Amino acid sequence: MATGVSKTKMNGNLQVSTSDNGNLSYHPIWQNGNSANRLYFGDNLAVMQDMLKDETIKGQIRLIYIDPPYATNSVFQTRKQQDAYTDLLTGNDYVDFIRERLSLMKELLADNGSIYVHLDNKMVFHIKVLMDEIFGTGNFRSMITRKKCKSKNFTKNSFGNISDYILFYTKSNNYVWNKQYDQWTDDKILKEYPFIEEDTGRRYKRVPIHAPGTRNGETGKTWRGMMPPEGKHWQFTPNKLEELDRNGEIYWSSTGNPRRKVYLDESNGIALQDIWLDYLDVNNQNTQTTGYPTEKNIDMLKRIILASSNMGDLVMDCFAGSGTMLVAADELKRNWIGVDVGNEAIKVILNRFKNGTQTLDEHIGNKKEIQKTPDLFSSSLIEGNTFVANKIAHHLINNYTIFANGKYSGAEFQIPENTATIKNGILDRASEEGNI
Ligand SMILES: C[S@@+](CC[C@H](N)C(=O)[O-])C[C@H]1O[C@@H](n2cnc3c(N)ncnc32)[C@H](O)[C@@H]1O
Repeated sequence: MATGVSKTKMNGNLQVSTSDNGNLSYHPIWQNGNSANRLYFGDNLAVMQDMLKDETIKGQIRLIYIDPPYATNSVFQTRKQQDAYTDLLTGNDYVDFIRERLSLMKELLADNGSIYVHLDNKMVFHIKVLMDEIFGTGNFRSMITRKKCKSKNFTKNSFGNISDYILFYTKSNNYVWNKQYDQWTDDKILKEYPFIEEDTGRRYKRVPIHAPGTRNGETGKTWRGMMPPEGKHWQFTPNKLEELDRNGEIYWSSTGNPRRKVYLDESNGIALQDIWLDYLDVNNQNTQTTGYPTEKNIDMLKRIILASSNMGDLVMDCFAGSGTMLVAADELKRNWIGVDVGNEAIKVILNRFKNGTQTLDEHIGNKKEIQKTPDLFSSSLIEGNTFVANKIAHHLINNYTIFANGKYSGAEFQIPENTATIKNGILDRASEEGNI
């Protein structure tokens, strides 16, 4: 679990994530600007059924990320002990709940779209089988193992559970893919690129110039009087090898063994693999958070968005929670659709759009001010000469439309300008100063 508290009983009136009436259509209840960004307050089953009627959305979503309930049989609370959402469906009921929704997501996805489903070790294999069935085994791309928290003193007689999983599928073989890289660290550079070219000072590594497998063409022929080693072929034609050597890109050992030089300054970084260690969720008192339970690491979401969409694309998270995916998408200039059935989630998202996040410390009531040298930080972090640890410059989001339907009569949350109550699916205009 990332943040928040889980238990099995609710405090008060919590909306439960069961299906609502698919016949009720969703309509704008608040709007600012003319972007395609949409925030839906409702059960994603009915919302997606409604979206499928809209040709500007059906088959147009480039990327879907979901982080649904994990069948933990718990009720989750915010840091301020507000009930946030229930996770009470288990076994077949849970699988059916996810199945219905994944089928709709497939229809909403663009043909070159991708879907990422975040789960823990309880249901990941059940849902993997389900996704093989819905998206096709051939469209399975990766199962990412993510380190979710620091090592802990696990009390069970087992290994500490610090990982969760993200299943990555695409709708077809032809999908948006922007390869992701990590930056080189000094340690890794010294290990991987140990040599420095005398003339140029360029750092490089030495790699073989042959590869496994025999070839009958040019790459299987003699170069400088040498045949490739038994069972191998040259990686380049003899002509190309000549050119590399002329350019000083071949290293000759004292025993006359040629190797190719690969330069650090030509590397894009370290290609991202399917084990992610750098995206822990809220893990210390200074982590910026909304206080919503199970809030995910925003940098992890940015990686996914960068890998599987381009600027201007439409992306969706229909289990939006605190809106991490939506904020990441907005920052990266994607259009977004967010859906959540919980009153508390919508409240948290709207507050996050307007006010950003706070440190964990502040959520539990400690307003910690630390004296720091002001010029190290941007002016937005400074009050007088004091660096305010719990305030960081945040990305204001105010260009979007809120959708709801009549089912949520009486729900109350902070719209961007004021507190508004939805009555019969319509914003109570008496308390509203927004501009619909
Ligand atoms: C694990 S949380 C998502 C956390 C999110 N990734 C974040 O970073 O904050 C799951 C969310 O799914 C929402 N949810 C559960 N069932 C839903 C449904 N049928 N329709 C829409 N949202 C639902 C819950 O209200 C909850 O906010």
